[in-house]
Amino acid sequence: MPHPNYAIDEMISAKSIAARIEELAREIRTEFADTDKLVVVGLLRGSFVFIADLVRELDLAVEVDFLEASSYGDGMESTREVRILKDLRGQIEGRDVLIVEDIVDTGHTLAHVTKFLGSRKPARMKTIALLDKPARREVDFKASYIGFEIPDEFVVGYGIDFAQRNRNLPFIGKVRFIDES
Ligand code: PRP
Repeated sequence: MPHPNYAIDEMISAKSIAARIEELAREIRTEFADTDKLVVVGLLRGSFVFIADLVRELDLAVEVDFLEASSYGDGMESTREVRILKDLRGQIEGRDVLIVEDIVDTGHTLAHVTKFLGSRKPARMKTIALLDKPARREVDFKASYIGFEIPDEFVVGYGIDFAQRNRNLPFIGKVRFIDES
C-alpha cells in the first residue's frame, strides 16, 4: 500500500500532557492510597507511552502488566470485533486494578476488556484513558479518569499510530491529508 501523503499538526503538546498526567496521578494516588499493590494494566500497543509516564508519577506500590486487545488492525475504522491477543501474566482476583488506555473511541475495546477482566473478580477496577472522543461512541462506556476530551479528529502520537507509524511522536497530533490532485 503506498503511504498516504499527510501532515501532522500539534493538537496537545508534550508539556500539556505531562501537566495533565501529574494531576491525574494525584487523584489516583488519593483513590488507591490504601491499596497494598496496585495492578496497572496497559493495553498494548497504544498505551505504552502513557503507562510509562503515568506509573512514574504514581507514588504508590504498583505491579505493571499488559494485555493486548485489537479491533482496528492497520486500518482507520473499527471492525467492532475486539480480540484478546495477549492475556495478563499475573492474577487480579481480589486485587485493585487500573486499566490504562490511550484513547476511547467507539468504546468497544474498553467495554470488552472491563467485562473480560471483571469476570476475574478484582476487588476494585478503574479505567484511565488519555483521550476521549465522545462523538464516536457506539457503546455506553465512560472511563473513570480522562486526560483530554477531544473532537472527532484523526489523531496520532504519544503511542497512537496511523498504520503503525507515528507512535513515537512526543505530542498528540492531528492528521491532515494533503490532496495533491
Ligand atoms: C486503538 C486504541 C484503543 C482502541 C480504541 O487500538 O489504542 O485501544 O483502538 O478504540 P475503540 O474505543 O473504538 O474500541 P488498536 O486496536 O488500533 O490497537 P493498538 O493499541 O495496538 O494501536
